[in-house]
Formats: sequence, structure tokens, C-alpha cells
Amino acid sequence: MLGLANSVAFAGSAKPIFKVSEAIVRLGADTVLTAAFSQLTAQWLRGACKQSERSLIHALWLEYLVTAHCAAEIARRLSDEEVEVSLAYAAGLLHDVGTIALICAQPEPMSRFVRSGYDFGSPLYAGFVRAHTRLGGALLHRWRTPSEIATVAVCHHSKSVLSESAASIIVFLADHLHGAVLDHDRAGFENPEACRSGCFGDATQMIMAALAALGIADDLDVLVGRVAAESRSIEMLGTVIHL
Ligand SMILES: [Fe+2]
Ligand SMILES: [Fe+2]
Repeated sequence: MLGLANSVAFAGSAKPIFKVSEAIVRLGADTVLTAAFSQLTAQWLRGACKQSERSLIHALWLEYLVTAHCAAEIARRLSDEEVEVSLAYAAGLLHDVGTIALICAQPEPMSRFVRSGYDFGSPLYAGFVRAHTRLGGALLHRWRTPSEIATVAVCHHSKSVLSESAASIIVFLADHLHGAVLDHDRAGFENPEACRSGCFGDATQMIMAALAALGIADDLDVLVGRVAAESRSIEMLGTVIHL
């Protein structure tokens, strides 16, 4: 918390602080909860992966942070408060937990597969989609994660995702926005290539349908811009809580 509160993203030119209570005031409750939850997730990742996969896992970790921030921003934008911002954030961060589990189970072939860009459209990719969604859902269920989050992990590649829960539609959409966030004028990532993966192929018409389903079709650029403007704090979160 102190590291985050004293980072350029949060401190600007303000004087450094050394008390956690002051850090919490500077960061605000939302950021503190987000950072704490992210840290717990990162600790799990750190314990689960081998040294040789650290750089790959770190890249995925940054990607999931971008997805979580996009999901939270979309939830914030929805006027009917159908999905809590914290739920959208957690679901965005954990939706691909099955991918991490597969990397832990089959380090070499999975690392090759992810690093080479997922081989979209191939039978291998279809098998990966089935495996990581089922495994992710089963893990989250076993860990007694709220069922809404496990549902997102199961459904986020489903062809019928648009008829699933609002949280699933939000994460599906957020998961397609990495490239737009990284390329946005307001983005200031030091190393954008480090988190430019994503377990989907190119954006499809389903994106427009998802935007329409959520009623935010006109706001995409503003929304992406808001996440892009947070790029330094996202990167800081990924660095402070480095795997
Ligand atoms: Fe996925
Ligand atoms: Fe994903």
C-alpha cells in the first residue's frame, strides 16, 4: 500500500508518506480493496508457477489486470448497477485462472502454445478453450468463490455468452479490449508488448452485439480512454506486486 501510495501514479509531486493509514486515505477504499485482492491473487500465482514460467505468467498477470480494469470501468458505466464494480473486477482478474492451472500442469507445451499466440481457429485452440473454461470453473467452485465469478470463467468463450449473466458479457467484452487500451492515445505503458496477448482471436461482430446488449455502444472510446489513463497505476500494480 505504501509503495502504491508513493508511486508517481498516486503521489504526483506530493510528499512521501510512511504510515499505512495515510496511504489508505491517499489511495481511497476502492484502490485499497483492489490492490489487496490483486495481491492475494498474485500470491497464489507465485506459489503455483515454476521459476521458468515467471515471465509468461507475469505477462498474463498484466493482461488480467487490464481486463479487470476494463470490466470495472464497464460496470461503473452501467446505470442500472446490475453488476457491482468489485464483482466485475474480480471476475475480470480470475476468468482465465484455468489457463494458469493448465500452464502449471503442462508447463512446456502450454508455454509454447500461449507464447506462439494460441493458434486461433485450430482444433488445438478449441481444446484449449474447453479445457481452461471447465478447469477454471471447477477450481473457482472448489475454492468457494462466489458462483457469479465461477460462471464467468465457464462462460466467457461461450457462443451464447450474450444470453449469460451481465457479468459474463462484461468480462467477454473487457477481454477484447486489451489492444484498444494499449494503443489508446492516453495509454502510457512502459512495455505495452508485455501484456498484449489475450485468449481470443480478433474482435468479432459479437463485440458490437455485447456493447448493444449493455447499452454502451457509443461510449467505447471514452471507456477505453479511462482505462488507458490508468495505465501507469495498472503497471505499478503489476510491478509492486511482481511475481
Ligand atoms: Fe479465456
Ligand atoms: Fe481472457
